[in-house]
Amino acid sequence: MSAAFTVAIDGPAAAGKGTISKAVAAHFGFAHLDTGLLYRAVGAQVLLGRDAVEVAHTLRAEDIDADVLRTSAVAQAASKVAVIPQVRAALVDFQRSFAARAGGAVLDGRDIGTVICPEAAAKLFVTATAEVRAARRYAELAAKGAADSLDQVLADVRARDARDADRVEAPMRAAQDAVVIDTSGMSIDAAVAASIQAILSKR
Ligand code: CDP
Repeated sequence: MSAAFTVAIDGPAAAGKGTISKAVAAHFGFAHLDTGLLYRAVGAQVLLGRDAVEVAHTLRAEDIDADVLRTSAVAQAASKVAVIPQVRAALVDFQRSFAARAGGAVLDGRDIGTVICPEAAAKLFVTATAEVRAARRYAELAAKGAADSLDQVLADVRARDARDADRVEAPMRAAQDAVVIDTSGMSIDAAVAASIQAILSKR
């Protein structure tokens, strides 16, 4: 594969992008950026009373602590700041530099194949029904001791899907040339294998 091979993985909340992205990056020896964490980091600071645009311009590595950021409250705050064009614009350069790194990169998010890296060598759109995604996210949150009910998680997933898909700036959408992988009835291993296969076909 060429030096700056970029894999773009987009899809709705809790579709399995994170798991697939990590496995794909490990398989090919690529670096991985979970771009949702950038929006979550901004959202978390906004919950503390800070201004979203200012935070997006001054985001520091220590603000991106995955453990602290994976709560339902932060997820909702992230999807609210993600509709602000100036917030998105402030995060573009970092994502594009990451994508261009020698040795290959996997970026997962909502607009990687459409806006951040329209020239990506391989694009996947990973999806699943809202019910399946909510059940997976509920299990993840419950394992960490969170008190959210399954109904609350489903409502959260649906609210974010609507906000992410309906926004004007960089709405969540499968790129025209993306391979769509519906993981609703798939095991993790099967979803990872299908993703690797789709990427290999783009070499
Ligand atoms: O992990 P999960 O799929 O639940 O969400 P995430 O990837 O961490 O993203 C959190 C929120 O950030 C999403 O609901 C989007 O509103 C926003 N986001 C975005 O707008 N663009 C991206 N490239 C990544 C995330």
